[in-house]
Amino acid sequence: MNFLKRFFSKESQTPHVNIKERFELIGRVGQGSMSKVWRANDYISGKMVALKVLHKQKTLDLESRFIGLNKPTEGEIAIHLNHPHIVKTTEHGITTENEQFLVMEFVEGYSLSFLVESQNKDMRANCLSYIIQLGEAIQYFHEENWIHRDICPRNIIVNNEHELKLIDFGLVVPNTAPFQQPGNRTGTAAYMAPELIKRQKTSQKIDIFSYSVTCYEMLTKRLPWDAAETLDAVLQHINTPPEDIQNILPDVNTQLAETIMRGLELYPQDRWQTMADMLQPLKDVYLTKQQNKEALPEKNIKSPASPQTISTHKKTQTKSKKTHSKKKSHHKKQSQKSGKSTKKQDTYRLQPDQTSPELKSSTDSTSPQEKPPLKTPPKTDHLKKKNPSSKNNRKNSDDNP
Ligand SMILES: Nc1ncnc2c1ncn2[C@@H]1O[C@H](COP(=O)(O)OP(=O)(O)O)[C@@H](O)[C@H]1O
Ligand SMILES: [Mg+2]
Repeated sequence: MNFLKRFFSKESQTPHVNIKERFELIGRVGQGSMSKVWRANDYISGKMVALKVLHKQKTLDLESRFIGLNKPTEGEIAIHLNHPHIVKTTEHGITTENEQFLVMEFVEGYSLSFLVESQNKDMRANCLSYIIQLGEAIQYFHEENWIHRDICPRNIIVNNEHELKLIDFGLVVPNTAPFQQPGNRTGTAAYMAPELIKRQKTSQKIDIFSYSVTCYEMLTKRLPWDAAETLDAVLQHINTPPEDIQNILPDVNTQLAETIMRGLELYPQDRWQTMADMLQPLKDVYLTKQQNKEALPEKNIKSPASPQTISTHKKTQTKSKKTHSKKKSHHKKQSQKSGKSTKKQDTYRLQPDQTSPELKSSTDSTSPQEKPPLKTPPKTDHLKKKNPSSKNNRKNSDDNP
């Protein structure tokens, strides 16, 4: 009831926007499960924007799960986010059809899900950079005290300058006790942390799990566990250890692989405790590669956005390492190497950006991120074949919340 009161009082206070008068709707981009997104020309600012209009009933269904908790809407959350790897939202409101809408910068580029599938030259060259950029976005998000709950490649776009942008805040909740209570099973099944599927108490560690699944997929083109269609099936297979990245990619950097594997631990207490803890060894791998001027594929990686964050997290990392060293992992005994820095750095040197001709602007307004033209067929010989059947079965509701 409170929720409905709040919803309708908000509606009555906010001027309703007729989107057809306000925007020139140029074309639909990518189909979301909860919304329609258009590339649009904003008649007021004269800018090209992404206009996201939320599905009315699905949004009501989702928000009715948080009755009495005063959950902020997607627009209210997104408007305050300010990070180079999070899409910028410039406005939000309600349409004359009583739908919530968001106006965002239009990110010209490709969905990370496309890049994972294609494993093209740019993906291979920039994979570690993308991993760090995404980690920085999630770290910022967590420091702002949110839980994203839907980290997966479909909710990430990489622009033509190789900058990664996290999008979609539709399932975000505050990182506070009432929102951590068991029951609210939302997200995308293949990326959902076991405690979420098991309807246990959640924390920001569910995002660390989803991030680790995403990183695993970026490197190997496959999921750590075979994709399953139902949450029960996911739960069953998730109880077995995931295949080690090093078995799939024998030449992968050990510290990189071990860091990601630790993010996939079944029990949240065995995972990295914070995004900052997890990012540190990843950044160390990146720096070492830069220093050693390693040969391809990482040679022309674009540098992540906020290098200065490194030194500030040394303390937490050391503390977390100690905690973890006492624990025996459920999946398997993990090497503690993954938490160790290779070399101490005072500054994080940036490499000059090098763009590659393969990721150029797509102007197809129907679905530019999902089906870009490829000049050459992607080379995926370096990956052992074992592909997931389906990984996009986003569950925004289930039978018994
Ligand atoms: N700012 C943006 N710029 C360009 N495309 C976008 C933008 N935001 C969303 N999209 C496209 O719209 C799709 C759906 O957006 P998303 O926010 O994930 O919606 P949903 O909550 O319905 O999943 C994305 O996968 C992407 O292809
Ligand atoms: Mg989405």
